[in-house]
Amino acid sequence: MPAKKNTAPQKETAEKTFTFTNDQTGESWQFPIVDGTAGPSVIDIRTLYENTGHFTLDPSFTATGSCKSRLTFIDGDEGILMHRGYSIEELTEKSTFLEVAYLLLYGDLPSKNELHDFTKSITYHTMVHEQIHLFFRGFRRDAHPMAIMCGVVGALSAFYHDSLDIWDPKQREISAHRLIAKMPTLAAMTYKYSIGQPFMYPRNDLGYAENFLQMCFGVPAEPYKVNPLHANAMEKIFILHADHEQNASTSTVRLAGSSQANPFACIASGITSLWGPSHGGANQEVLKMLEQIGHKKNIPEFIKRAKDKDDPFRLMGFGHRVYKNYDPRAQVLRASAHEVLHDLGINDNPLLELAMELEKIALEDKYFVDRKLFPNVDFYSGIILRALGFPDTMFTVLFALARTVGWISQWKEMMEEPTLRIGRPRQLYTGPAERPYIPMNKRK
Ligand code: SDX
Repeated sequence: MPAKKNTAPQKETAEKTFTFTNDQTGESWQFPIVDGTAGPSVIDIRTLYENTGHFTLDPSFTATGSCKSRLTFIDGDEGILMHRGYSIEELTEKSTFLEVAYLLLYGDLPSKNELHDFTKSITYHTMVHEQIHLFFRGFRRDAHPMAIMCGVVGALSAFYHDSLDIWDPKQREISAHRLIAKMPTLAAMTYKYSIGQPFMYPRNDLGYAENFLQMCFGVPAEPYKVNPLHANAMEKIFILHADHEQNASTSTVRLAGSSQANPFACIASGITSLWGPSHGGANQEVLKMLEQIGHKKNIPEFIKRAKDKDDPFRLMGFGHRVYKNYDPRAQVLRASAHEVLHDLGINDNPLLELAMELEKIALEDKYFVDRKLFPNVDFYSGIILRALGFPDTMFTVLFALARTVGWISQWKEMMEEPTLRIGRPRQLYTGPAERPYIPMNKRK
């Protein structure tokens, strides 16, 4: 197909451009290079097809920016993670999950009054419609909690018709607050349902993590006092999982939102994507792997299997698309694992010792060093969550609970852009060329 004339935006003062040249025809086109606040600049190729008649191909988006965003910055080589310019280390140490949620949603750390009002709004949205309790009855008790969460979160859109107008900023804000507030309630209900215990209602006198823990571990038969150390560890884990740039589940939420789907449906799509063992499902797989390894004398055999291309075994909790250095969240969780286990009086935790030994051996192994496969956020989180009393099947639900803040903040940012266009990637067609239909009696 002959390339069309060059209509790329030729800004008079285009400071920096990238030139693509077709070596066959000698034609060349210039595209603007756009710089961000930090990280790699981008080549704006929005007019590539109309100018060159070519698509680009980047199947798992290793080099493709899908949007501009002000929320989160990751530097994979330096192991940096920032939310709105604040480092994850400082936020984990000095902030609370709701303060980080406010920061991601609105762009700045809240004033005292802003945090008070935001906390009040979230607190007063924690209850779910009483009919939602009936949804759970339809699931088997042994259903995977993520299967239930996919269902009940999407079903929220059947109840909150007063906040489904995605073009109304006020309704977008109410939906965002409702989702942040109700995820802990639904997650706790999912857990209670799986163990056959009655649902606990949220309490307005408790903080976000405290409230979640009492809904999980309290029972109507007696008062429940949340251990402040557990609540503190839960807050940290929520903060560390809040947002992470354009990962698979966040990209799923943005793509769903680009079709103007309602926010509850978009978050449900994020939950389904997060469930995969390569993504948020890895935390559950890490513990399964540690139990499969069983003892440090077996580590070399499993390291060998992880390197064997013919063996599907992977070292779960290791490697990351972006981090080619230590995942800063894993650093914080590693320290927190020791702290939480010590505070809980669990001084000898064979799983943690095995994890530390596995990490040490893997990080001395050429295969892992060459591929820069460091422990990621999922490597230590499961050990802490189990120590807090959660079954492995709930680990990804907790990830989804925390990541709802990131998902809905990214969705809000997208909806606030001047134009919303449906995301619609193209492809390289490699199927059969056109061919005539074969009637049944002529087929083999
Ligand atoms: C999360 O994107 C995000 O930000 C995600 C996340 C978030 O907060 O949203 O950070 C959360 O999902 C963390 C990742 C959790 N997943 C796991 O721990 C599962 C195990 N890790 C791998 O599946 C893998 O490392 C990924 C999926 C995390 C990253 O995959 P990539 O970037 O596509 O890397 P790759 O598969 O191309 O691997 C590159 C090489 C390959 O070897 P070669 O072909 O070069 O010889 O490294 C090898 C892979 O075989 N490799 C591993 C490995 N991970 C990669 N080998 C053994 N064990 C592993 N865990």
